[in-house]
Amino acid sequence: MVKPRVYVTRMLPSPALEILKEYCEVEVNLRQEPPSKRELIDRVKDKHALLCLLTDSVDSEVMNAASDLRVISTYSVGYDHVDVEEATRRGIYVTNTPGVLTDAVADFTWALLLGVARRIVEADRYVRSGEWKVAWSPTLLMGCSVYGKTIGIVGLGRIGMAVAERARGFNVRVLYYDVRRLPLEVEQRLNLEYRSLEELLQESDFVSLHVPLTKETYHLIGEEELRLMKKTAFLINTSRGAIVDTRALIKALKEGWIAGAALDVFEKEPIEEDNLLLKLPNVILAPHIASATVEARSKMAEIAALNIISVLKGEKPPHLVNLDVLNVKPLEEVKMI
Ligand code: GLV
Repeated sequence: MVKPRVYVTRMLPSPALEILKEYCEVEVNLRQEPPSKRELIDRVKDKHALLCLLTDSVDSEVMNAASDLRVISTYSVGYDHVDVEEATRRGIYVTNTPGVLTDAVADFTWALLLGVARRIVEADRYVRSGEWKVAWSPTLLMGCSVYGKTIGIVGLGRIGMAVAERARGFNVRVLYYDVRRLPLEVEQRLNLEYRSLEELLQESDFVSLHVPLTKETYHLIGEEELRLMKKTAFLINTSRGAIVDTRALIKALKEGWIAGAALDVFEKEPIEEDNLLLKLPNVILAPHIASATVEARSKMAEIAALNIISVLKGEKPPHLVNLDVLNVKPLEEVKMI
C-alpha cells in the first residue's frame, strides 16, 4: 500500500507531526511565513492530505493541482479560507478543530473587554514611558465600569456561549443575537435575552462578535450598525476581521460614535502599516492570538492530525465540516491506511 503523503503548511506544536509521521510521509514548510500560493500549489501536487492554517487560501486552483487530495485539515475552528463547496464537489473531506479553543477564545474576549474598558494597555504605556510622576491621582486613567453592565453577543455558538457564561461573575446582563433563537426555557435557564441585531446594538455597553465569516456576515457591522451603538459602548472582535467594515469603524472611533474597540482580527492580516487604527488611543489591538494558549494550540494540533488520520483510515473524522462529502465520496473510497 502507498504511504499517504501530507503537506503541513507551517511548523505546528506537538503532537501533530508525531501523530502524522506514524502513518504518513510528512513534508513541512519550516519557515515562519506561510507558503506563497505558487508554493502551496507546487507542494500539494502529489499529496493525499493537506494540513493548513487560516493564512492559506485553499481554493479551486489549489485543489486543481492536487489530483489525489483526500482531506484538507485546517488547524483552526474557522474555515472561511477553504472553498468548502468546491472541496465537497470534488469529494475532498474538510475538517477543523472546534471545541478545544472555545475557553481560550472566551477568556481572551473578556481580557480584551476588561482591557479596553479599564484602559490597561494605556496604563502600561503610561508607566513604562516614565509619565507616572505623581503617586496617586483622583482622576488618572479613569475607565468605564464593567460590573452591572450589558454585553451583546452576536453569534451564540460555542464561543459566544462561553463568553456569556463568564458574564455571571461580573454581574453583566447578556443579550444575544443569532440567526437561530434558543427555546425560551433554555434562554431563561441560562439568563440570556434574545434581541434583533439592531436592538442589541442599541442596548449593549459591550458588543462582542462571535459569528463565522460567510457571505452573509461579511461587513455585518458597518456604518449603519455602528451608529446604532451607544456613544459609551465598546466593540470587541475575536471572530474575523471582515465581519466589521474597518473604514466605518475608524470613522466611528475618530468621531466618537462609540467609546472604543478591542480587536484581535483584521480585514488584512498582518495589519497594514498605514492602518489608522494604529494611531487611535481608544483601541486595543492584538495579532490574532485569542486561541493562543499552550493548552489550546497543542490540542488543536492533535485534532488537526487526528482528523487526517481518521479520514485516511476510512473513519469519520472527529470534526468534519462538510458532512455532504460522505455521499459524494464514501469513506471506503478515501481509505489508504
Ligand atoms: C482562529 O481564528 C481560528 O479560526 O481557529
